Amino acid sequence: MASHFKMRPGLFRAALPLITAAFALSTALPTLAQTSKSTASDAPWWKHAVVYEIYPRSYQDSNGDGVGDLNGITQRMGYIEHLGVDAIWIAPMYPSPQVDFGYDISDYESVDPQYGTVADMEKLIAAGKEHHVRVLLDMVLNHTSDKHQWFIDAASSRNNPKHNWYVWNDGINANAPGVTAYQKRFEHEGKVPPNNWVSGFGGSAWEWVPSVHQFYYHMFYKQQPDLNWRNPEVEKACFDAMRFWLDKGVAGFRLDAIPTLFEDPQLRNNPEKGGINAQGDPNLSDEYVSNLPEVHDVIRRMRSMVEKYPGNRVLIGETYLPNTAELDKWYGGTAQNELQLPMDMLLGFHGDHDKLDVSGFRDHITEALTQTHGGQPLFVFDNHDNVRAINRYGDVDPAHAGLINKALDTVLFTLPATALTYYGEELGMVTTTPTRKEDVKDPIGITGWPKEKGRDGERTPMQWTPGPQAGFSTNPHTWLPLAPDYKTVNVEVESKEPNSQLEWFKKLTMLRRENPALHSGKLTMLDTASTSVLSYVRSTGSDSVVVAINFTAQPQTISLDVKSGKAHTLATTDPSLTSTSSTKNLTLPPYTSWVASVQ
Ligand code: BGC
Ligand code: MG
Repeated sequence: MASHFKMRPGLFRAALPLITAAFALSTALPTLAQTSKSTASDAPWWKHAVVYEIYPRSYQDSNGDGVGDLNGITQRMGYIEHLGVDAIWIAPMYPSPQVDFGYDISDYESVDPQYGTVADMEKLIAAGKEHHVRVLLDMVLNHTSDKHQWFIDAASSRNNPKHNWYVWNDGINANAPGVTAYQKRFEHEGKVPPNNWVSGFGGSAWEWVPSVHQFYYHMFYKQQPDLNWRNPEVEKACFDAMRFWLDKGVAGFRLDAIPTLFEDPQLRNNPEKGGINAQGDPNLSDEYVSNLPEVHDVIRRMRSMVEKYPGNRVLIGETYLPNTAELDKWYGGTAQNELQLPMDMLLGFHGDHDKLDVSGFRDHITEALTQTHGGQPLFVFDNHDNVRAINRYGDVDPAHAGLINKALDTVLFTLPATALTYYGEELGMVTTTPTRKEDVKDPIGITGWPKEKGRDGERTPMQWTPGPQAGFSTNPHTWLPLAPDYKTVNVEVESKEPNSQLEWFKKLTMLRRENPALHSGKLTMLDTASTSVLSYVRSTGSDSVVVAINFTAQPQTISLDVKSGKAHTLATTDPSLTSTSSTKNLTLPPYTSWVASVQ
C-alpha cells in the first residue's frame, strides 16, 4: 500500500549550573509541583510535556511469564518520574488474540489477562498520579479484532444488527471486464474483490466470508476488520469505550492509524505506483483509503466529547501525512478544534536511511512552528513500528551512534514543541533484527521475509540491569530475546556514568522543566546558512538559551551572533565545552551538542 507508514519500503519505516550529578534511581528529580514555580504558565500540561511510549509486552514482567505487564509498569513509575517524563502512552493492553500484539482488540473495556486486570490499570493510574505521570491509552478505532463480539455477530448473517458495523462488499463477477489477474487471485464463488486495494500487511484488503457470501475490508491483517465509520452506531460505541477509560482518569489517547477511518464510497482503485512491495503486492498510493475529508467531522465531535472532561485531556494522532498543510487540517486549521497533538512524522521519519540534514531540520522545524495556525508541534523520532533512530540516523562509523542519539535528544527536548519518545531510547537501545525467519514474531516479518523482517527488532525487552534477562523478567524465556548489548546498555550502569545516554536524557528533560527559556521561550534560528550546525536561541525576553548541534562527523567552528555573546554552559555532550563562556569562535567536536544561557 499505502504510505500510512513511512519508514519501511511501502510500509512501516517506510542560568542553571551544569548538572553533573549522576542521578541514581532513588535520587529525585524535582517533581512537577516543585518545578511549577519557576515555570508557571497557563498553558495546558501537554504543551511542555515529555511523553514516553511504553510497549507493555516489553517493559517489565512482574509475574515471571516472560511478557511485560501492567504491574511491571507500576513498579517502574519512580524511574519514569525521574526521567522527567510527564505522561506515558501505553500501547494496547486490551484483551486481544495478539495477532498484531494488541492492535487487534477484542474488548475495548477490559485488560488482557496476560497484562493484568482493570483493577491493575486503576492502580497504575493511581501510581502515576502519585509520581506526577499521566497515563495515555492507545485507542484503535479503524478496526477491531475478528474475535470481537461485534465482528462475530456481524459475520454471522447479513441480517444481524451488527452487520453494517463493518465494511462489506458483494464482490464483482470474476469475468467482468477490467478484472485484473491480481484480483483473480482472491476469487471465491465466482466473485473477486471490488477493486485493487491491498492490505498494508500483505495480500488483498478484502477477505471473503462464506456465511454471508461477501468480502469485508481490512486495511491491516485480515484478523483486523475495518469498522464502518459511516454508521453512527460505530461512533457511539467507540466514544463509549473512550469514556469508559476517561472516567477512570486516563489523561487522553494516542489514536492509532487515525487517518484510515474512512474509505472511498465509490471504491475507486488506488493509483498504482509501479513495482512490487516486500509482501509481493503492487505498490499503490493510499489515495482512496486514507486521510479522507470525512474523518475530520468525527475528530471534531471526538474533541468536544473529550473536552467535557476536566484536566486538559489530550488527543494525540498517529498521523503519517504527506506535508505540513495536511497536518494543519488535523489541528482543525484556523478553528484549532480537532487534535491537540497530531504527530509530526515529517521531521523524524523519512526513510530507511535518515540523514542529519541541517537545512532539512531547520526548514521543517520553522514550517511546523509557523504553518499550523498556532498548533503545538509534537515531534517524534522513535516508535514500535520503525527501526530505532539510533540506527536510522547513524553514519558509517558505529562509534558515532551514541553521539547522534544524544544530538537527536537535544533537538527533541530543546524545541518549543511537545516531545514524544519511546522506551529504551533514553538508554541508546538499538534495533536488534531477527536473523532467522523462525525467530520472527511479527507476522509481517514472516510473510515479508527476507525483504521485510518485521518490527521485533525495536520491541526487545527493556534493559534495566546487567543481570539475568536485564532485570526485565525472572523467566529466561522472554517473549523476544534481549538485545546482546544489555550488559553495558542498561539503567543500572548508565545511571552511574555522568556521560551516559541516560544522564544526557535526564539533563535535558530537567533543563526543559526548570529553565524558563527552554520551557517557554520563543525560538529564533541562528546562522541559517550553515549546512553543518543547527543552532537556535530560545528566549523569553529576560532569559535566553542558545542551542548548537554539530550534525557532522567533523569538528565545526561557529560564531553565533546573539545578545552580548557572553555564555554560560548549561549542558554539553563534550567536556571540552564545559567552561565555554562565549558564543564566538567556538569549536564543536563531531556530533556535539552545546546548550548555554546567554546574556
Ligand atoms: C500501529 C501498528 C499497528 C497498526 C494497525 C499502527 O499504526 O502503530 O503497530 O500494527 O497501526 O493497528
Ligand atoms: Mg508478565
